[in-house]
Amino acid sequence: MSHSKIFITRLIPDLGLALVREHFPAADIWPADLPPTREQLLEKVRGVDGLLCMLTERIDAELMDAAGPQLKVISSMSVGVDHIDIAEATKRGIPVGNTPGVLTDATADQAFALLLATARRVVEGVDYIREGQWITWHPQLLLGADLAGATLGIVGFGRIGQAVAKRAQGFDMRVIYHSPSAQPAHNAQRVDLDTLLRESDFVSINVPLTEKTRHLVNAEFLAKMKPTAVLVNTARGGVLDQTALYNALKSDQIFAAALDVTDPEPLPMNSPLLELKNCIIVPHLGSASHKTRNLMSKLAVENLIAGMDGDKLPNCVNVDVCRS
Ligand code: GLV
Repeated sequence: MSHSKIFITRLIPDLGLALVREHFPAADIWPADLPPTREQLLEKVRGVDGLLCMLTERIDAELMDAAGPQLKVISSMSVGVDHIDIAEATKRGIPVGNTPGVLTDATADQAFALLLATARRVVEGVDYIREGQWITWHPQLLLGADLAGATLGIVGFGRIGQAVAKRAQGFDMRVIYHSPSAQPAHNAQRVDLDTLLRESDFVSINVPLTEKTRHLVNAEFLAKMKPTAVLVNTARGGVLDQTALYNALKSDQIFAAALDVTDPEPLPMNSPLLELKNCIIVPHLGSASHKTRNLMSKLAVENLIAGMDGDKLPNCVNVDVCRS
């Protein structure tokens, strides 16, 4: 049991919470559903030794200054770390932990759920009934796209991209991918981006958000896709230029899109994307299963404990800091 000062930015699932109670009984846990505002966060981190945050908090130099030089570890309950200034943490010798691996299957499931829902127009079908339009069966009602025999192009072939490819095998799809470094797996064939966009009936975005991938999906990218193609983004909203996507969907330049993530989050209610029938958007639910969120919370707390003990984090983002 430690008496270190710990701040946790949200009430986390039971598995992780039990570990917190055991190791840090005096931890300060933000109880509200809404995250702390920036001002509240800067106030709360003052003097903390360990911070466990979510992807909703911006962790930058200002925040690390507000915490103070005693800050020993930053642990995020997420695999993505684009909300954290990793270079700044590294400069200060602060290890940063994240939660890869445990959310791979859930996120790949979500990509497939969105892919199927978009291809077979599930949300439009639900709306159709709710709006009282269902009068009869019709041979041409809400026709969509087949998966069997179609080509799935995966942009980014890390853990999640590969898990998407694995699922596609079960649907008898041909899989191609674009990645500068990943080796082929699950019968997927590596191709350049232009080939992927030209040949894919479905394009799944599975790259992290970095300066290189920001607005990777732009007007030029979308113009290279087939007019019948479906785009699925379960990565980060910032990878996609939403104005360009709106224009492509509105003008039927591509068939449909499904977004698990947007920029910003939440998506403002006046976003024109919300008016489109051929765009479905869900509120960043990629890892949102009971089991996965519990495992993420456990791993995030394990990273926190290791950092507080001065041990190597089970999952360290800035490996140079963890090595030393
Ligand atoms: C979710 O998007 C995550 O990064 O864990």
